[in-house]
Amino acid sequence: MDINSKIDFDKLPKHIAIVMDGNGRWAQKRSLPRLSGHNAGMKTLKSIVKVASKLGLQHLTVYAFSTENWKRPQDEILGIFKILVFYVEKELRELHANHVKVNIIGDYKKLPQEAVEKLESSLLTTKDNTGLQLNIALNYGSRVEILKAVKELAIRSMNNEIDPNDIDDEIFSSLLYTRGIPNPDLIIRTGGELRLSNFLLWQAAYSELWFTDLYWPDFKKKDLEEAILDYQNRKRRFGGVK
Ligand code: IPE
Ligand code: IPE
Ligand code: MG
Repeated sequence: MDINSKIDFDKLPKHIAIVMDGNGRWAQKRSLPRLSGHNAGMKTLKSIVKVASKLGLQHLTVYAFSTENWKRPQDEILGIFKILVFYVEKELRELHANHVKVNIIGDYKKLPQEAVEKLESSLLTTKDNTGLQLNIALNYGSRVEILKAVKELAIRSMNNEIDPNDIDDEIFSSLLYTRGIPNPDLIIRTGGELRLSNFLLWQAAYSELWFTDLYWPDFKKKDLEEAILDYQNRKRRFGGVK
């Protein structure tokens, strides 16, 4: 029996988030430039989006560029953006035909102007789609995201628009980039590192975590299915007893 037939389609995670790590090491292993790894990673993204859409997931969030990734050499940074914009442009028609709604979390307006424009056009084209929502985390960092919400609440409170005692999970969550998106049920990280690297820190409070040593370009449909199957065998207690 293949993995797919073991998946319980009534108990799919609503939201899977992925830290797509290991592109550089994938390339290094083949004596290729790091950008070849990012290119190969983009092909994996393309196929995983299709799989997620076919499986019937509601949300797929992918970590594409962190607020810390600006520390990398300029040519790698610009290369990553080029590859991403090329993917979005080239795939837009198909994404749209598959009812995928593209969304971006993070301060993507700091990207080069051309990238911002092309990304915004994909947001506009797919805005009314009701299939899979693909959330691309771009210039995303949880700490910046949380601080932004804290500053907004401080300003509202200073202007007497909100009583600090009324601040709750719901209000706070509504000020994050992920407003309106359910918390991730499952977070996958490829590339062998066992950390979150500033990804969805608030939202991950009760996420199930799944790690693999596979580099992102080597991650396949069956690996996603394996992660989902593993998730379906977890006991989620949320602090209660079951
Ligand atoms: C993840 O792959 C993609 C980005 C961070 C943009 P890396 O580029 O971090 O690959 P490794 O971790 O160096 O192998
Ligand atoms: C996390 O990977 C960010 C993305 C996948 C976009 P990194 O490669 O930047 O993470 P660290 O540096 O290993 O923690
Ligand atoms: Mg990495």
